[in-house]
Amino acid sequence: MNRMITFVALSLALAAGTPVLAAGNAEAGKAKSASCAGCHGADGNSPTPGFPKLAGQHEDYLYHSLKDYKAGKRKNPIMAGQVANLSDQDMKDLAAFFARRKGLNQKY
Ligand code: HEC
Repeated sequence: MNRMITFVALSLALAAGTPVLAAGNAEAGKAKSASCAGCHGADGNSPTPGFPKLAGQHEDYLYHSLKDYKAGKRKNPIMAGQVANLSDQDMKDLAAFFARRKGLNQKY
């Protein structure tokens, strides 16, 4: 029975063309990213090893990281403060923006 439900749900999602990835707007994300630049770099290539590089990471990964900080599932006092006032759409937009930056160590 469960398999049937899963099958129907998947079929419906595919038929509707539902995007599986978060639908963020990179342009809007850029405008919202000024407060992140001090630690992560304006283009997501952090100049300091203590701050992770965001450039070129998967959009969905970035979005879920932000959501988890906000929900307290991923614990980091610095990032918890950063996401406290972000809406769900803000986090999607920021993820879209940083995912589209080119990582300095990326070859593609
Ligand atoms: C004061 C410095 C600082 C600022 C400002 C800051 N961050 Fe962070 N960020 C960190 C640190 C430190 C970590 C690593 C935390 C950890 O270990 O979970 C981190 C981690 C992250 C991660 C997880 C990366 C990974 O590879 O898992 C994301 C995504 C992120 N930050 C996004 C943002 C966004 C978007 C903003 C702006 C709204 C922002 N950060 C502002 C310091 C900062």
